[in-house]
Amino acid sequence: VAMTVSTVLCGVAQAQSLTVGFSQIGSESGWRSAETKVSKQEAEKRNITLKIADAQQKQENQIKAVRSFIAQGVDAIFIAPVVATGWAPVLQEAKEAKIPVFLLDRTIDVNDPSLYTAAIASDSVYEGKVAGDWLVKTMAGKPCNVVELQGTVGSSVAINRKKGFAEAIAAAPQVKIIRSQSGDFTRSKGKEVMESFIKAEQNGKNICAVYAHNDDMAIGAIQAIKEAGLKPGSQIKVVSIDGVPDIFKAMMNGDANATVELTPNMAGPAFDAFLALKKEGKQPKKFIQTESRLLLPDTAKQEYESKKNLGY
Ligand code: AHR
Repeated sequence: VAMTVSTVLCGVAQAQSLTVGFSQIGSESGWRSAETKVSKQEAEKRNITLKIADAQQKQENQIKAVRSFIAQGVDAIFIAPVVATGWAPVLQEAKEAKIPVFLLDRTIDVNDPSLYTAAIASDSVYEGKVAGDWLVKTMAGKPCNVVELQGTVGSSVAINRKKGFAEAIAAAPQVKIIRSQSGDFTRSKGKEVMESFIKAEQNGKNICAVYAHNDDMAIGAIQAIKEAGLKPGSQIKVVSIDGVPDIFKAMMNGDANATVELTPNMAGPAFDAFLALKKEGKQPKKFIQTESRLLLPDTAKQEYESKKNLGY
């Protein structure tokens, strides 16, 4: 028994001394702020010291943060990569310093997969597909002109969510994307771009649905639709991704139709993978996939309440 206790204490003592540096993108969306908050809670649960660097949407700031974490000799580095390309040199530096790197919620394009330990993310092509399948099913053979609000240009999630949605609607030639532009994952740009789509499309009368790569842009679009004197949720359908409390509120008001949930808890599985690697030498799976659920107005109230309880 004594030995077991001392092993446990030893484990705890080891966990207490671990430090993880997290290069976070910024706070562009409600989902992102929730992820930052949940990451802190998950670190605390495991007695890990978490140092978060806010990159304000800039990859150059992320690269600087990673270099600084390397210089500080952290035990692991988490990166939510704003864009998919341009990571190889700094990851090579982390590899040479023998610091494992975990990617959170977005993926990267590198030729050498050994440059990072694991990625914890959803299948973002699938998310787009779920959104597209929902629209095709909802339209039931009727024509539908869709406008698309893309996420940050060059981000893996914007590329993949566009791809998955396009694949889904390819099965229904009467459902087509008539305009597509980036709203940078923010509410304000989502609104601005939607206003320009509405102006260009007979004051919105030629638009049947908006597909937004995240809920925040959908909420901006809902405002633009209302200001144009149209009814979001019925005259223009709204489908998006994330599952933040405000989209469920919009569903409860009849302003939004569907969202694909993305958990903000990427850090929890990342910490577990890191601890298993550190303590047991267990190599994690390269891609740790989180779940993607389609959520509709029928459960909006309960989703809203449970997310609020989660501390969003
Ligand atoms: O990478 C995840 C995406 O980034 C979320 O869907 C979006 O809200 C955030 O900005």
